[in-house]
Amino acid sequence: MALHRENILIVDDDISILELLQRHLKSMEYHAFKAVSVKEAIFILKDTFIDLLITDIQMPEVDGLQLLKFTNEHYPDMPKLVVTGYPSVDDALATFKSGAVDYLTKPFTKVELKQAIVKAFAHGQQRRDKKSPRINSANAVYGDMVGESEAFHKVTNIIDRVKDNKATVLVKGESGTGKELVARAIHYSGKFSNAPFIAVNCGAIPENLQEAELFGYKKGAFTGAHENRNGFFQAAQGGTLFLDEIGLASLAVQAKLLRALQEKEITKLGSQKAEKVDIRIIAATNSDLSEEIQKKTFREDLFYRLTVVEINVPPLRERKSDIPLLVEKFIKKYGIEYRDRLLRISPEALEVLQRYHWPGNIRELENTIQRAVIMSDGIIKVKDLPDFLKFQIHFPEEGFLSLREMEKNYVKKVLIHTEGNKTKAAEILQIDRKTLRDKLK
Ligand SMILES: Nc1ncnc2c1ncn2[C@@H]1O[C@H](COP(=O)(O)OP(=O)(O)OP(=O)(O)O)[C@@H](O)[C@H]1O
Ligand SMILES: [Mg+2]
Repeated sequence: MALHRENILIVDDDISILELLQRHLKSMEYHAFKAVSVKEAIFILKDTFIDLLITDIQMPEVDGLQLLKFTNEHYPDMPKLVVTGYPSVDDALATFKSGAVDYLTKPFTKVELKQAIVKAFAHGQQRRDKKSPRINSANAVYGDMVGESEAFHKVTNIIDRVKDNKATVLVKGESGTGKELVARAIHYSGKFSNAPFIAVNCGAIPENLQEAELFGYKKGAFTGAHENRNGFFQAAQGGTLFLDEIGLASLAVQAKLLRALQEKEITKLGSQKAEKVDIRIIAATNSDLSEEIQKKTFREDLFYRLTVVEINVPPLRERKSDIPLLVEKFIKKYGIEYRDRLLRISPEALEVLQRYHWPGNIRELENTIQRAVIMSDGIIKVKDLPDFLKFQIHFPEEGFLSLREMEKNYVKKVLIHTEGNKTKAAEILQIDRKTLRDKLK
């Protein structure tokens, strides 16, 4: 199978350095083009697509700075890495001015070279992201969130309206849809971003400890309370307190929370003294709380207080047009983390991802990409995706399937549909159970 190789142009008047670089690059699976002078480099640039330029600065005749100037004009998006033996402040300044962000001094180890290359690629990508209208449309990126669907814009629109005030927000959405990311975006893109953002998962704190953890306690409030302690409310003072899984807050906490929202004050456990709090509360839930309200495990009055502004984060299957951008983001993230490089994805694999209904939403998509990055040979292909995705449809990407394989996949698919029920599966396939059993062998 063909490996994806980036083309790297190396320019140095010192042949031994060129050769060393070439050996290193080859072992890192890059394709190296060599030039001993700027003139030669320009010839190569003109008829080869170069993904990265690595150049020396001090060279006879025309120096590296001239080459950087030339490439900035003609290939502004091409990442550049400067290698030099005489690092000086002036050199550094000149190269930075010439737009080359990355710098490597001789002598360098292979590891240092590799790190510098990965960094240069990432910087080049960042520059392209900033420029490319698709990603730059200010709409496609919001805080750490990416998306371009109408549903995504609806969400970012509301974030814009609440980020600079302290209105209470309830974020609703299935698991893995990005509720916490929405809360962070509200905080970090707004006026109060320098104040703390404190995230508390109510479901993770045992009921009997919730009150003390959230509101703090006075010495002697209960056995084991050896000193006065602040809670998350005090810690978030001036900023945002994110209460995740609010449906799991104890009734005692709910009563205090209601008071905090109404009176803007709280009292520590075991204390009579009220303390003023100035915080924005963002709560999140993956149920609509109406059941909890009916069962009287969630206070209706608190529910209304919390939903001054409501943000519904839709499931991924209802905004599949966000998938390509999400995939791109995760490939970049895990490519750099696990493989030290930027990977790509085949159109077929992307299509498989877009067809799936993603019950675990963005978190499930992210995990899938994470795994695919590890499995992939450079370009993520259908074969790098989990079986349950592959068996949705078949692409002749790596040659056509045999009838036998096709049948195997289809039987598997039906079994997934019937949740393993063989009688039902046999019915659908219109074969008897024994034939199915034989096929399963
Ligand atoms: N729009 C987005 N762009 C990029 N990444 C996203 C986006 N939305 C969610 N993610 C990523 O998906 C993962 C799940 O997001 P998050 O933790 O915010 O979901 P959640 O709704 O709080 O899930 P849960 O209900 O399970 O707590 C995170 O890794 C997050 O970074
Ligand atoms: Mg969450």
